[in-house]
Amino acid sequence: MQNLVEKAEVLVEALPYMRRFLGKTIVIKYGGHAMTDDSVRASFAVDIVLLKHIGLRPVVVHGGGPQIGATLKRLGKESTFVEGLRVTDDETMDVVEMVLGGKVNREIVESIQRAGGRSVGLTGSDGALLRVRKKTVNGQDIGRVGEVTDVDPSVITSVSESGFIPVVAPIGVDGSGTTYNVNADEAAGELAAALDSEKLMLLTDVQGVLDSNGQLLSQLTVEETLKHITEGTITEGMIPKVGCCMNALKGGVSSAHIVDGRVLHAVLLEIFTDDAGVGTVFVP
Ligand SMILES: Nc1ncnc2c1ncn2[C@@H]1O[C@H](COP(=O)(O)OP(=O)(O)OP(=O)(O)O)[C@@H](O)[C@H]1O
Ligand SMILES: [Mg+2]
Repeated sequence: MQNLVEKAEVLVEALPYMRRFLGKTIVIKYGGHAMTDDSVRASFAVDIVLLKHIGLRPVVVHGGGPQIGATLKRLGKESTFVEGLRVTDDETMDVVEMVLGGKVNREIVESIQRAGGRSVGLTGSDGALLRVRKKTVNGQDIGRVGEVTDVDPSVITSVSESGFIPVVAPIGVDGSGTTYNVNADEAAGELAAALDSEKLMLLTDVQGVLDSNGQLLSQLTVEETLKHITEGTITEGMIPKVGCCMNALKGGVSSAHIVDGRVLHAVLLEIFTDDAGVGTVFVP
């Protein structure tokens, strides 16, 4: 009996959050590194379906770094990274498009449908969703890596309003139709701002942002974040991640979180419980 009462209490704790987020858009970036475990993948899909059923509007953006890396390796190609961004030549871009749009995207759509939801997979070229220009890092050419210049979220809005859960692969297109590899965190942040979303959640393979002693930083301001980057505590793939959280806040998103995607039901825990300290939250 006690057990049943506890179950009811969990639902009661969720009630104010359900009310607050009803009809709101939540952009969730699902990192390639957090996708490797089958049970975690299934729990992620269930979480997303539950959000949709209770009237929130989840939008999934995915990465696929490890999956792209594995395919490139099989082809005998090795990538180099500049500030967490993959240097992308034409051959690498073919692999990026095949793996992200063709494989990872389909797998997520399928897992959501197995969990009882209806889902539509898209890339940033569908409906001119993500317009980009070629990006350089400190003047360095890193190939077909795109920087988002415009977002037309209407395709997401229509898909979402029709009852489907949109799943977006981070591939952008420039004015002449050339496709570019976009960092999935950046794509998620830009989408979150363009959709006026309530929340941006980046799921990754660490607890959140860690300090130089490996301790979780549960809250960060913009100044603190910049300090950690200059001091070298925040490096590699965490750089675009914190950058996009700060941009999303600037773009009007109410809250941005970096959450441990290896934890079962990480999404539900973050949205529907009172517990602070699930990952890192960025505050204005
Ligand atoms: N201060 C920090 N705290 C936590 N992780 C950090 C920090 N600095 C660098 N990192 C690295 O950032 C990584 C997360 O970014 P990464 O790009 O590898 O994964 P992802 O974005 O979740 O996946 P994908 O790029 O495939 O979408 C961590 O695994 C860690 O190695
Ligand atoms: Mg990354």
